[in-house]
Amino acid sequence: MTFKNQVIYQIYPKSYLDTTGNGVGDLRGIISKLDYLADLGIDMVWLNPIYPSPQRDNGYDISDYVSIDPVFGTMSDFEELIQEGKKRGIDFMLDMVLNHVSTKHEWFQKALAGDPYYQDFFFIQDEPTDWVSKFGGSAWAPFGDTGKYYLHLFDVTQADLNWRNENVRKELFDVVNFWREKGLHGFRFDVINLIGKDALLKSNPVNEGKPEYTDKPLTHDYLQMLNAASFGKDAESVTVGEMSSTTIDNCILYSRPDRQELSMTFNFHHLKVDYANAQKWTKSPFDFAQLKHLFHTWGEKMSEGQGWNALFWNNHDQPRAINRFIDYKNFRVKGATMLAASIHLSRGTPYIYMGEEIAMIDPDFKSMSDYVDVESVNAYQALLDAGHTPEQAFEIIQIKSRDNSRTPMQWDNTANAGFSTGTPWLATGNHAEINVENEQSGEVYQFYKQLIQLRKSDQLISDGTYQAAYQDAEHIYAFIREFEGRQLLVLTNFSNQVIDFELLADFVDSEILINNYATHQPNQLQPYQAIAFTI
Ligand code: GLC
Repeated sequence: MTFKNQVIYQIYPKSYLDTTGNGVGDLRGIISKLDYLADLGIDMVWLNPIYPSPQRDNGYDISDYVSIDPVFGTMSDFEELIQEGKKRGIDFMLDMVLNHVSTKHEWFQKALAGDPYYQDFFFIQDEPTDWVSKFGGSAWAPFGDTGKYYLHLFDVTQADLNWRNENVRKELFDVVNFWREKGLHGFRFDVINLIGKDALLKSNPVNEGKPEYTDKPLTHDYLQMLNAASFGKDAESVTVGEMSSTTIDNCILYSRPDRQELSMTFNFHHLKVDYANAQKWTKSPFDFAQLKHLFHTWGEKMSEGQGWNALFWNNHDQPRAINRFIDYKNFRVKGATMLAASIHLSRGTPYIYMGEEIAMIDPDFKSMSDYVDVESVNAYQALLDAGHTPEQAFEIIQIKSRDNSRTPMQWDNTANAGFSTGTPWLATGNHAEINVENEQSGEVYQFYKQLIQLRKSDQLISDGTYQAAYQDAEHIYAFIREFEGRQLLVLTNFSNQVIDFELLADFVDSEILINNYATHQPNQLQPYQAIAFTI
């Protein structure tokens, strides 16, 4: 088995299942749902950070890399999770946040106390640059009372680590090896294309300073070192780099096998097609032509360059794709299955974000007090400061907040969706009808199962090349996969209308491999239909 025929399922541990009644999901909750995950057919579970953390950025502010935060359970719960997973053919992928640490981490605390050895773990400068933090405001904060500044590309409590320092690299490689020794094969590296920074950081007004620290050539060197010192020793390893504002050329280098960097990369260009003027905190319909162009360009170039994409519509940082790309009030089910087919039949490794397999939608939160995410809270204030009315600002938060996907997993229609007997850390969404109990025998879940099985049973899907098709069709996204003389044509209708099209001559005598409708009208696609033909 390779990562090419695997499907990875992402769990936001805080929100999966709470077995203690404290309102926060935990490892034992995940253990109790392994049979559910095995039934779905997934190979690996990616867990968002479960390490001790002040939780200022929900665990992405790590204060100890090699322990389990007691809120999630103990190390022995974790070991049991790994063992129980193995029994069911499920491996785990841990989230490695190696670009920054919490300012509560002992390295930063020692640096603050004046230890020069640890001060060199961070970027500390006399003069801040003009870079903007990804969560708003300056990317620099005063370093104690030294008169100097330290870099934090994210929250002020997330200090960037200086990878130029080989002691830092050694510490971080040891972290990865610590978890490998627990029997782990999967690693997701958080914002990893930001680690290759210059010795002296300089101002740059372009794009909030991003060109100064994103995808720098040194990043590739560091990834090769990380690979050689840790997961590269393991033939079964599956690694994915989260790449912020990246390019195709770099992603080919990050993921091409002979480079020995990573198995695959996440990029986010396709999830910015509903930004007005490239700004996230805006309200705008999505641009289908742009979405399609991005999918085709990335699909073809990664295929030609032998790079490998991580394919996804949802994660813990994104509002639910059904709300963004589908007329979900009328076509939630067909829309969900169409979105699934559009990536699961494509070239790359598909990721399912918890609840996607039952077509969960964004919650209907009514006030700012329902939101807890630091980025959303900052953005609301920034929108008000920019002159929006509270109503306008709130409308934008409602559609863009990361909390949209972080609401508790919806298991049943009882209080708190069966997630917790206590008060959930984040309110639950619309679980009266959309819940596992209702949906497991339904169309969406069953369609996901079918797609997962197809990837395992047919190399055309796991290994075929990617080529764009029907580029000029207004509402259709389509592509052709090819493997050892066989071909697969995948057609998806991204509209709520019936669309006429002409089947490519080569496929006139083809077989239907999968269809999210029970029947098929020749040369016509139903609203949100997804259909694939093989020859
Ligand atoms: C990544 C994570 C996000 C986090 C950020 C900082 O983008 O996915 O949740 O806030 O990195 O670690």
